[in-house]
Amino acid sequence: MPEYDRIQCPAFKSKIMSADAAAALIPEGCNVGMSGFTGSGAPKEVPMALARRIEAQLAQGHHFKIGMWTGASTGPEIDGALAKVNGINMRLPYQSDPTSRERINQGDINYIDMHLSHVAQYVWFGFFGKLNVALIEVAGILPDGRLIPSTSVGNNKTWLDQADLVILEVNERQPLGLAGMHDVYYGTQLPPHRVPIPLVHPHDRIGEPYLRCDPAKVIAVVPTHKADRNSPFKPADADSEQIAGHLIDFFKSEVRHGRLPKSLLPLQSGVGNIANAVLAGLNNGPFENLTAFTEVMQDGMLAMLRSGKMVGASATGFSLSPEGEQDFVDNIDFYRDKIVLRPQEMSNHPELIRRLGVIAMNAMIEADIYGNVNSTHVMGSSIMNGIGGSGDFARNAYLSIFMAKSSARGGDISCIVPAVSHVDHTEHDVQILVTERGLADLRGLAPKQRARLIIDNCSAPEYRPMLQEYFERALHHSRGKHTPMLLDEALSWHARFERTGSMKVREAVAA
Ligand code: COA
Repeated sequence: MPEYDRIQCPAFKSKIMSADAAAALIPEGCNVGMSGFTGSGAPKEVPMALARRIEAQLAQGHHFKIGMWTGASTGPEIDGALAKVNGINMRLPYQSDPTSRERINQGDINYIDMHLSHVAQYVWFGFFGKLNVALIEVAGILPDGRLIPSTSVGNNKTWLDQADLVILEVNERQPLGLAGMHDVYYGTQLPPHRVPIPLVHPHDRIGEPYLRCDPAKVIAVVPTHKADRNSPFKPADADSEQIAGHLIDFFKSEVRHGRLPKSLLPLQSGVGNIANAVLAGLNNGPFENLTAFTEVMQDGMLAMLRSGKMVGASATGFSLSPEGEQDFVDNIDFYRDKIVLRPQEMSNHPELIRRLGVIAMNAMIEADIYGNVNSTHVMGSSIMNGIGGSGDFARNAYLSIFMAKSSARGGDISCIVPAVSHVDHTEHDVQILVTERGLADLRGLAPKQRARLIIDNCSAPEYRPMLQEYFERALHHSRGKHTPMLLDEALSWHARFERTGSMKVREAVAA
């Protein structure tokens, strides 16, 4: 039958079944390791069938949940569907779905927000307990049982290796031209047996193009035909373009001063509109022969590969708009030469990020006047998405850059604050802060010097006098101590926002 052409191994063919039948085989309360990285390469049918099963059981007064482990965020068919039926008891390592976020912040889901490079080794070490089921989307199954990975690799190697049972979704919608784009490195060891990873250029291939899978573990194979979740990009707004402009000027200056080569260094770029504006700026900028060593390939990087500005890129998955996906599929032979997709334990590996001298560019929620950065929590308590790979890159990069607009929520929140309400990246790991107002190069500066620079260069004009006034009083109060802080006031801006809906001092005006 034509729809089974991609399943070429007889041992797997005998396991073909519907998504509902496969979902019925998932034991209640078990831990499921799913493929998927920002929507690319995630399973698309079995999670929804599992959500239907949970819902049906719930209607009969029986409720069960699963532990859900992935590469990173997924799509509404997975996080959204399972969170909606309250079917997740433990989620890791990253999510960005609104329903899942709500469940976490209501206390319905326990969430382990962790560095993406750590996940595989935590699983080997057994810190999360047993992985029961691997649920993996692939583009095809070869006659010898090896798997053609899909549009992301994420933690799939680890899930297939560690799980007792395996369910495969074979997605015919994924182009077969993906075969050969992946590089799955099987040389990782547990300490004390670790050896250096033999990768010295971002697009080196050090592993195998296919995933290994023990046929004896496979309990179900489900043919599917659904597109990855692709979100359209909003056109860059003026603030994002200004942020991009400051960064491009900074890179030019670094090249002039001999601190960066003309081809810069391998780029890591977070997802989102600011990141895309920066990539567009680089595509139109003076730099040539750029490379990327990043987590996710987004439209901006495809454009740079097409224009020839970028010569090669390493990632673990895609995050494309529908137009970007079409371009990728139409030109897959061109892209296969230029893009390497790796397991996230490699794409985010501290050893490799440090060796390659990556330029890490990530968005943030807020930074404080000393350079501590919060990427994950709103007003200290509510999770937004998670740290993702930002910590893997920021801690180990040659240049660690964080970007945000200087204010949020129509100006009611200052993104530069006296103290961050949650710390993801400490002052020791943050070198450059950029907002639309300007850039603060914190390298080589002591805390009080950093504070003045961040306030002067990055804060929104309506909050700058408040920050200056806070800092001067903290300085006076601490009699010049190392990192002046007014303990009673440091988080008062956040408290004021919770009380009044704004960090601005309206109360005093009203009084
Ligand atoms: N306080 C409260 N909310 C804030 C805020 C602040 N200081 N700054 C931004 N926000 C809100 C915005 O209002 C917006 O809310 P909305 O969705 O309700 O409109 C939301 O946060 C997103 O802000 P936006 O300016 O659109 O930025 P973004 O989409 O680039 O997201 C992060 C910013 C930090 C949330 C996002 O980049 C992230 O999750 N980062 C962590 C993971 C990471 O860095 N991954 C890349 C590693 S490879």
